[in-house]
Amino acid sequence: MDVTREIAWETLTRYTKSESLLRHALAVEASTRSYARRLGEDEELWGATALLHDFDYEIHPTLDQHPQNGAPILREEGYPEELIEAVLSHAEHLSMPRDTPLKKTLFACDELAGFVHACGLVRPDGIATLEPKSVRKKLKQPSFAAGVHRDEVYRGAEELGLDLDEHIRNVIEAMRPIADQLGLKTKAA
Ligand SMILES: [Fe+2]
Ligand SMILES: [Fe+2]
Repeated sequence: MDVTREIAWETLTRYTKSESLLRHALAVEASTRSYARRLGEDEELWGATALLHDFDYEIHPTLDQHPQNGAPILREEGYPEELIEAVLSHAEHLSMPRDTPLKKTLFACDELAGFVHACGLVRPDGIATLEPKSVRKKLKQPSFAAGVHRDEVYRGAEELGLDLDEHIRNVIEAMRPIADQLGLKTKAA
């Protein structure tokens, strides 16, 4: 199968109806794609992997099912093993080695994209003027977006070999062009 965004989007939306999950998929996609461009990797494959990383979350909402029970569905649909393995590796509880640039990137973008999104939701202009410094400050407040695992954010940047600020900046910049699709304000009210 030739993986395209269109095919991945079709699979995603067949299994995922929740707006917040679709927005999460889009945010992680934009971030992962920006790294694919930066690194000269296969942007279509990386983008599709990110779009699909939580595709089964609605039907498999618990860690004893997600994402491992989604993998056979992706295999059935004809997705390449490289994509399926990367999807599986984003889950800490499966303890799979993140031994490719795609796996490292997906893991590093997953929690951080969610966190940047949360930061944007409480700002009058969304992420338009959001700076890494303010994201870092919020990361230190345990009650803010409490569901985001801080240790995964820090470890993700480390595994990518990037300074945390640089990684945060990359993710913010990747998400800015799709801020309206993410339900974020694009200018101050
Ligand atoms: Fe997940
Ligand atoms: Fe995710």
